[in-house]
Amino acid sequence: MKLLVLNGPNLNMLGIREKHIYGTQTYADLEAFIREKAAQLGVEVDIYQSNHEGDLVDKIQAAYRKVDGIVINPAAYTHTSVAILDALKAVSIPAAEVHLSDVTKREPFRQISYAGMACQAHFIGLGFEGYAQAMEYLKKMLS
Ligand code: DQA
Repeated sequence: MKLLVLNGPNLNMLGIREKHIYGTQTYADLEAFIREKAAQLGVEVDIYQSNHEGDLVDKIQAAYRKVDGIVINPAAYTHTSVAILDALKAVSIPAAEVHLSDVTKREPFRQISYAGMACQAHFIGLGFEGYAQAMEYLKKMLS
């Protein structure tokens, strides 16, 4: 089983950006956390981060027939990107949405999630643990 974990803009700045919201752990810490979880679950994982919307769309398209499940934190593109929503719909790969922070309790412009409309499950406000739960969810649903 192969999972793709996609992270959007500014998540590479974890540990530096708004620590009161996103914590002090770095993006490298997040990658290590995801790899450890993948090993525990016995799944293959490809982790990709980009600050560019089109790169994320390209990566989703490239996953077609190659990846069994997608964990996605589109970051700011969550709230703006119909292109990412359409890409997820185009490939029809089971997907789970993750947000480190609890976006439901933040600004009004964060209350819409376009990508989330193409996701079967949502793990919001759980920090790194949200990625672990999303991976577990996909493993279970795909087994
Ligand atoms: C985020 C929440 C988004 O609103 C924000 O733009 C991010 C990170 C999160 O993981 O909490 O960059 O997706």
